[in-house]
Amino acid sequence: MKIMRVETKTGRVTSEAAEVLVLTHCEGEGLSQDAVAVDQAIGGVLRDVLQSKEFEGKANELALVHTQKQLAAKRILLVGLGKKKDVSVDQLRQAMGHAVKRVRQIKAAAFTVALPAVTPAGSSLVEVAQAMAEGAILGSYQFTTYRSEPSAPKDVKGMSVLVPHKDGLRPVTEGVRRGVATAEAAVLVRDLCNHPSNVLTPTMVANEAKAIAKEESLTIKILEERDMEKLGMGALLGVARGSHEPPKFIILEYKGSKKKNERPVVLVGKTITFDTGGISLKPAENMEHMKADMTGGAEVLASIRAAARLKLPLHLISILPVAENMPGGRAMKPGDVVKTLSGKTVEVQNTDAEGRLILSDALAYATRYKPAALIDIATLTGACVVALGQFAIGMFGTDATLKETVRKAGLRSGERVWEMPLWEEYFEQLRSDVADMRNIGGRGGGMITAALFLSKFVGDCPWVHLDIASTDWSERERAYIPKGPSGIGTRLLIQYLIDRTL
Ligand code: BES
Ligand code: ZN
Ligand code: ZN
Repeated sequence: MKIMRVETKTGRVTSEAAEVLVLTHCEGEGLSQDAVAVDQAIGGVLRDVLQSKEFEGKANELALVHTQKQLAAKRILLVGLGKKKDVSVDQLRQAMGHAVKRVRQIKAAAFTVALPAVTPAGSSLVEVAQAMAEGAILGSYQFTTYRSEPSAPKDVKGMSVLVPHKDGLRPVTEGVRRGVATAEAAVLVRDLCNHPSNVLTPTMVANEAKAIAKEESLTIKILEERDMEKLGMGALLGVARGSHEPPKFIILEYKGSKKKNERPVVLVGKTITFDTGGISLKPAENMEHMKADMTGGAEVLASIRAAARLKLPLHLISILPVAENMPGGRAMKPGDVVKTLSGKTVEVQNTDAEGRLILSDALAYATRYKPAALIDIATLTGACVVALGQFAIGMFGTDATLKETVRKAGLRSGERVWEMPLWEEYFEQLRSDVADMRNIGGRGGGMITAALFLSKFVGDCPWVHLDIASTDWSERERAYIPKGPSGIGTRLLIQYLIDRTL
């Protein structure tokens, strides 16, 4: 998808030539100052619309009117924000998502949007502008790569954010800059997750990472199978054994910090390009969703690209352990024992619990950088879906400050996390009769035992684990989230990185 261009400009709603001028409206309020000015120019049509109750300003409600050459803008699109006291930054994202879809539906190539009259409690103009850019770009997302007919209707090409006074220009421009880079990252993740596994193989993920590294001048190192053997990454190699596709271990580095020797933030993402379950084969129903079992990896790749594009002043490393989980003739079998990079041995009682295996090697590798913060993100457990449904990411961690920063980034980005217990008591479920531990925790607390398994490989690093199995695939289309791969987690990670630099 070609990403919409978003620009900021100063001007008045009454003199702005636009195919569509978007104005927001809160339920139960009078027309905003902007809307009054427009209304006067077009003979009271907006007031009529409100009085008729055809449009009341309920959250995400839309009303479109033509201005019949009485105004520079051809049409006015009213978008409801709901009750004024409840307007949140996420409501603005949603409103822009709905607005852009209507703009596309009427085949307009571009639109202008006036800054809303309300600023959500506790948020700045930068955040407002960021959310508006994100909502519009993400709301217009389409994945059409494999369709033979061009998409109809065509993508919306541009959005202009209209700022009434010059003093608003700086914060709005900064917000738009952040919003565009963040949304572009989520779009990359959605695209990578949408590509089927016959196209997006581990080798293709490595190629994609190389291309991004080149574009953004990042350092990249890719370990091949023989390198992993030398290092002793028995867990990752074990998972990859059943597939004809060779595994990859990708390390990207961005040095944006001016300080020499600043300890890095290290992001690790589970990158299983397809999860059949291996010999512990998954049932056929919905197995196609497992092409998105590389969401975590795509997210840490997209996040480092965003950090570079935003020139964030920090030292960042993204690590992607990449493999395909297949039941081939050489595949791991239940009961097999693998030796991980850390030296710990694991009895593989279920080959479908492969995420924690590849992550154990990646996390052990990550600790070598002595990270200031270590965050892994993974579509790790079905138990996460059962526990949290679609609206919360499962969070675990060893460091209170890091957890709190991630939680806040979740609130700001609208990709919220919910903390789960990482109590040592649960480890009894991971005991093995033959090895240091086993890779499944038996009945109960599946999300927790998976996280606890990972915790054994992070040493004493400040660490947070995010289980995104709940949120990575949306069952239905929402305001700015399509049906299918959602990219959720990307904006959370980038917001965390931005917040670290503020
Ligand atoms: N990739 C799956 C987890 C998953 C499930 C992600 C549903 C998204 C939606 C993971 O590798 C897996 O299969 N986990 C097993 C672990 C079990 C065997 C202990 C699971 O959750 O069933
Ligand atoms: Zn699995
Ligand atoms: Zn998996």
